[in-house]
Amino acid sequence: MIATRLGLLGLPLLALAAPAVAQGQLNLYCSVQVEWCQAIATNFEKETGVKVAMTQKGSGETFAQIRAEAQNPKADVWFGGTGDPHMAAAEEKLTAVYESPNLKELHPWAQKQWSQSGKRSVGVYAGALGFGFNRELLAKKGQPAPACWADLVKPGLKGEVQMANPNSSGTAYVMIATIVQLMGEDPAFSYMKALHPNVNAYTRSGTAPIKAVARGETAVSISFVHDAVVEANAGFPAEYAMPCEGTGFEIGSMSIIGGARNMANARKFYDWALTTPAQRLGYDAGKQLQTPANRAAPLPPKAPDLGRMKLIEYDFAKYGRAAERRRLIERWDREVGSLPRG
Ligand code: F6P
Repeated sequence: MIATRLGLLGLPLLALAAPAVAQGQLNLYCSVQVEWCQAIATNFEKETGVKVAMTQKGSGETFAQIRAEAQNPKADVWFGGTGDPHMAAAEEKLTAVYESPNLKELHPWAQKQWSQSGKRSVGVYAGALGFGFNRELLAKKGQPAPACWADLVKPGLKGEVQMANPNSSGTAYVMIATIVQLMGEDPAFSYMKALHPNVNAYTRSGTAPIKAVARGETAVSISFVHDAVVEANAGFPAEYAMPCEGTGFEIGSMSIIGGARNMANARKFYDWALTTPAQRLGYDAGKQLQTPANRAAPLPPKAPDLGRMKLIEYDFAKYGRAAERRRLIERWDREVGSLPRG
């Protein structure tokens, strides 16, 4: 009735039903695939009325941006992306200390990310690193599917492997840290130099190489294996293998930005993102297949099961240290990334 009267007065009726304006806004930096980023932005907005402005970028890129904006933070929350740069951001106090009442609902590995980061970052999912491959393309080249890290450097795969660039991609940094932990640092760099002739591109995004496998543009990728299953589920000829020597994994993380302009909404989002329904959105709305951090959120169907893999004891405290991360990436730039293409 009141609305009708106001309507007759010519006032826009929509303004009456606009909790988004009333609840303020949230600037979200998001480092998972865009489908999931959009799903969390839309659902949080729908449930709370908080208007979400979302920007999607890789883990390394987002870390660099948050660092560049430290004096004048533009984002409120950083959702997703590999845990190492979240750890580095925590150490540099670019992110805020926060204890969510929902923390206790999480797996121990997700809570450990929180305690190891000095309460500035929390695990929101996990995923393991492995190889993606296109069996048809490999068959055409007369090559078997790779089973071990050692297989990737074989001459038969010359120009057939794709991986990301660790400056922009958290996936690629996890690869470097994994190889270093498996082999020791100098042998690991010898390995990555030997791999270089087989690499046709170091992509900006961590998921680009598996998308290239799926579309038949490269035979093999170094990828988080959940992303290979996403492509297979979408109907592409992508498969995955777990390295026989063992492999590393990520604790995909979330952090509140230090000095966030919308701090109350940042906390509201953080609490919400840890709940079971929000944790289910990765698969239900985004078709993503990471292992959820909330113990009550089920492992999505066909998702790789980390419990059955040969995983290393990834040292997140050490490889998430800002100086260590910077040093390894600079060494990679100097000794691997800058090698001529041939
Ligand atoms: O969203 C897929 C995903 O593989 C995540 O599991 C991971 O945290 C992220 O991408 C890493 O992306 P990038 O390597 O581009 O930082």
